[in-house]
Amino acid sequence: MSENINLTGKINERLPAELVRLIEAIGAIASHQDQHLYLIGGAVRDLLLERETFDLDLAVDGDAIAPAQLLANTTQGRLTVHTRFKTANLRWKEWRIDLAAIRSETYDRPGALPKVKPGSLADDLFRRDFTINAMAVQLSPGRYGDLIDPYGGREDLEQGLIHVLHDKSFADDATRIWRALRYEQRLGFRLEPATLELLNRDIAMLDTISGDRIRHELELILREPYPEKVFLRADELQVLPRLQPGLKGNNWLSERFEQARQVSSPTPPPASLYLPLLTYTLTAEQVEQMIARLKLPKSLSQTLRGTCELKSEIASLAAPDIKPSHIYDLLHSYSPAAITAVSLAVDSPETSRNIRQYLARLRYIKPALTGEDLKSTGLAPGPRISDILTRLRAARMDGEVTNRAGEEKLVREWLRKDT
Ligand code: CTP
Repeated sequence: MSENINLTGKINERLPAELVRLIEAIGAIASHQDQHLYLIGGAVRDLLLERETFDLDLAVDGDAIAPAQLLANTTQGRLTVHTRFKTANLRWKEWRIDLAAIRSETYDRPGALPKVKPGSLADDLFRRDFTINAMAVQLSPGRYGDLIDPYGGREDLEQGLIHVLHDKSFADDATRIWRALRYEQRLGFRLEPATLELLNRDIAMLDTISGDRIRHELELILREPYPEKVFLRADELQVLPRLQPGLKGNNWLSERFEQARQVSSPTPPPASLYLPLLTYTLTAEQVEQMIARLKLPKSLSQTLRGTCELKSEIASLAAPDIKPSHIYDLLHSYSPAAITAVSLAVDSPETSRNIRQYLARLRYIKPALTGEDLKSTGLAPGPRISDILTRLRAARMDGEVTNRAGEEKLVREWLRKDT
């Protein structure tokens, strides 16, 4: 192994003192039981890169339950112990700390969830996706802070490479194909050439992954600061059509995602805004395929369907002299999420303006008169009343009437004509 690297300085710099003390205490307890404690995986990568991280994966080479109890006794955080899996999870402020026993995994068949059994630290690191995620830091007294890097993760970090640990990695778990693109684009890295070849070889394995797992990957991508970068790369590598044929990662998508961030600022856009933009190029049939394949939740599915339907109806919204009540008629049955997505997706500035007018103003307009008011004039309860209210709402929107007295006058005229 290469030179001895110690990360104590970086740990002290980047983790709150209270958390560092807690980790030291767990390390000491583990060591009394002849066990070692390690920080493992993504947090080590982020420490070396000096990137923010709030997820700490701790591992002991033994039973994780006793050290977990210590966590429970000494912190204010919310601790959950999973006795069956011998793991524990602590939520403390914005931090998430997972504690598990070191383990190795084998896959019975491609795409299956792994079988887990106790193993050495090297096994535990070897079962991981990429070298940059396969490092650990010793947290036990004596060697506290020492980097353990058996697979060259630090060198790949320095060279900016996403590098699998062995040539069955993508076949074992094809979600790693998406993970590779996500890390590559997040960190501004590139796929190491042999890894790229394996990715190309194993691309079809993506079809062996369950809808739930693929959806989870998609959710993780949509939480990245610039998800479009992952979709552009996935398009280039022919990974995107494996998610759903018909999807496109291109400049159009980048511009729309950027606009989505602007309209959602200061919070990042929700999946219910990003996703209908991603699926905007799909036919209704393809939207249904994607909903079924990814088992998308109901409200999100409705937003995607609504967006697709609305897309086919919006041509008339481009007319500059369209009446506000007509805009309302066209849009009011769609969810605000679908409407917002379409307003960002359309090319016509008139359409976009008309949709914004609906979202900002028209959808809130109501007549001053209520159903009760109409009943008290002697109208029988029934569809007639809702018809009149609809007409009043339209009259308000189109500026034909501006106050209650005007509405009463209109209603009298309509009733006179009708009788
Ligand atoms: N891992 C893996 N294969 C997967 C998923 C996860 O090998 N399909 C491993 C990786 O080594 C990863 C660790 O499990 O570092 C924890 O997974 P996760 O929390 O998803 O990774 P982080 O690196 O913490 O990711 P992120 O920075 O995106 O939160």
